[in-house]
Amino acid sequence: MGVTVVDHPLIQHKLTLMRDKATGPKDFRDLLEEIAMLMAYEVTRELALEDIEVQGPLGPAAGKTISGKKLGIVPILRAGLGMVGGILRLVPNAKVGHIGLYRDETTLQPVEYYCKLPEDLAERDLFLLDPMLATGGSAAAAVDFLKKRGARSRNIKFLCLLCSPKGLDVLQKYDPEVDIFTASIDLSLNERGYILPGLGDAGDRLFGTL
Ligand code: PRP
Ligand code: URA
Repeated sequence: MGVTVVDHPLIQHKLTLMRDKATGPKDFRDLLEEIAMLMAYEVTRELALEDIEVQGPLGPAAGKTISGKKLGIVPILRAGLGMVGGILRLVPNAKVGHIGLYRDETTLQPVEYYCKLPEDLAERDLFLLDPMLATGGSAAAAVDFLKKRGARSRNIKFLCLLCSPKGLDVLQKYDPEVDIFTASIDLSLNERGYILPGLGDAGDRLFGTL
């Protein structure tokens, strides 16, 4: 599958509101949650189904149910947290792991500070969440964490709002089996590793720490 740009009109409309610097933390949070939910609709398109029968008011009815595969959601702290609620609205039984990483402001390299993941990663389809794929360092480090704890590359889907062409290239080269879903491929990165035009610092806008 590789890279999928999820360009549904509702997503593009909401993303434009998020780019607007006049949008404050409450609306930013709500919009991120809504976009994550809309993206989850696309990302779960391939989930396997099995046939079941239920007893309806007028008799038996043939139907479908999502078959046994377990799901896991893994936000990269902090900004990935803003995507969790929207996805859990659609897949409420998924387990949630957390990976804490921040970018060193000088080197732009990811620094780890927390990791707590479900034990049975090898058996799960995993949605790795971070709104921003900039240099690609944080996403690659997070994929590495998951794989070292047993996850299979082909079962990892990385969901972001925005990516830079460089970040996309870095993550794809790092692990071509990880599928990437994004709402936009932006133009470039600035000298401080920010996505252009982007939306600024996602974590700060989400939590009001500007
Ligand atoms: C941001 C963002 C990503 C990372 C992307 O987090 O949420 O995790 O930068 O940059 P990269 O692709 O160049 O690694 P940040 O380090 O600012 O931490 P925060 O979410 O705690 O603010
Ligand atoms: N992290 C952000 O929050 N925004 C960017 O543009 C790049 C990294």
